[in-house]
Order: sequence, then structure tokens, then C-alpha cells
Amino acid sequence: MINKIDDIFKNINVIPILSLDNLDDTIGVAKALVNGGLNVLEVTLRTDYALQAIKELKSAIPEATIGAGTVTTAIQFENAIKANADFIFSPGSTKELLEVANESNFPTIPGVATISEAMTALDSGFNRLKLFPAEAIGGIDFLKAVIGPFPELKFCPTGGISLDNASKYLSLGNVFCVGGSWITPKELIKSKEWNKIQLLASESSGL
Ligand code: 3PG
Repeated sequence: MINKIDDIFKNINVIPILSLDNLDDTIGVAKALVNGGLNVLEVTLRTDYALQAIKELKSAIPEATIGAGTVTTAIQFENAIKANADFIFSPGSTKELLEVANESNFPTIPGVATISEAMTALDSGFNRLKLFPAEAIGGIDFLKAVIGPFPELKFCPTGGISLDNASKYLSLGNVFCVGGSWITPKELIKSKEWNKIQLLASESSGL
């Protein structure tokens, strides 16, 4: 599973996080991101349309790799696989989620916010983790402190990441990627300003 995650993120430093409400926006914003150089996307299961959005993206933009995010239950986990997602992000690590992820052997990045959660995830075989909400729980200082005792762990921090701090995170040896919604501002999606989103993506794909 770890190899599959490392393959997905091999050339990727930044993953845009999208919450989508309709087909028009889905295709427009995803094309802008891919044209801007970001082709691994996370679609959060925070809207009713999210699973449909994943299906639409997989057929409309086959060159994009689509993760399902904000997966918090086993049912959502299974639905994300059925929707043809390529990988799964969860904001936290419940026993149920770690079990279903292990049983399915589906590429999954469990979320953690504490050392004990990271140790539980590691015990279950996960050493690629989402650090959420990164900035609120100590961000760069937290990650620096974890390298010593847990050199095998690598993180994708999300929550409060922006163009201003992304490079600092990415310079750490235990960060394999950063994620965030700064590349997909709700106002730009609402006004369908795909060019502006493409510009934001271009800025971030150079990080
Ligand atoms: C997530 O789902 O990881 C976060 O909501 C992203 O946080 P951000 O909106 O601060 O980038």
C-alpha cells in the first residue's frame, strides 16, 4: 500500500482540495488545475455531489489522479472505491477506518493530529499520514519534533497551508506533499474564473 502511495505522489508536491457542488464546476476547475500542472486532486466528501464528481472526473479527465477526501466512515470508504477514486484521505484515524483500509489494501492516507494516533496508524501498517489540522496543532515545529523518534513516518500536512508557508513545509524531510484549498478558492469557483485558478495552480506546481 505504501508503495502505491509513493507512486501516486512520486512527482507531486501539492494537492489541491476541492469541495464540489455541480458538474460544470467540477470539470472547469479540474481542467484548470491540470492545465496549471497539478494532476493529483482531492475531492472531499463534504458535498452531496462529491461521489458523482469523482466518477465524472475519472471519465472526463483520465490523466488526473483523483483522491476522495474527508472519508470518515467505512461506508464512505467503500463508496469512494465504487466511485472509482484512486486513493483515500481521511481527516482522522478511527479503528473502523484503519481496519477497512487494511482489509481492502486500497491506497489510504489516514489523518493524525497526535503522536499516539501516529503510533496507532504505524502499528496498523501506515507510515504515510495526513497531518490535520496542521497549522493549528503546531505545523512545522510539530513535524520537526517528530523526525527524531519516528524517522519512518512521512506526512502530508493540510489545514492552514498556503503559498506563503508551503515551501517551508516541503523543505522538511518528513513531508511528502502538502494539501490545501488555497488553490481552489470558493469565490473563484463560484464565478467560474478558471484562468485565475489555473494561475494559482501554476504558482503551486512550481513548489
Ligand atoms: C482538509 O480537508 O485537509 C482541509 O480542510 C484543508 O484545509 P485548508 O482549507 O485550510 O486548506
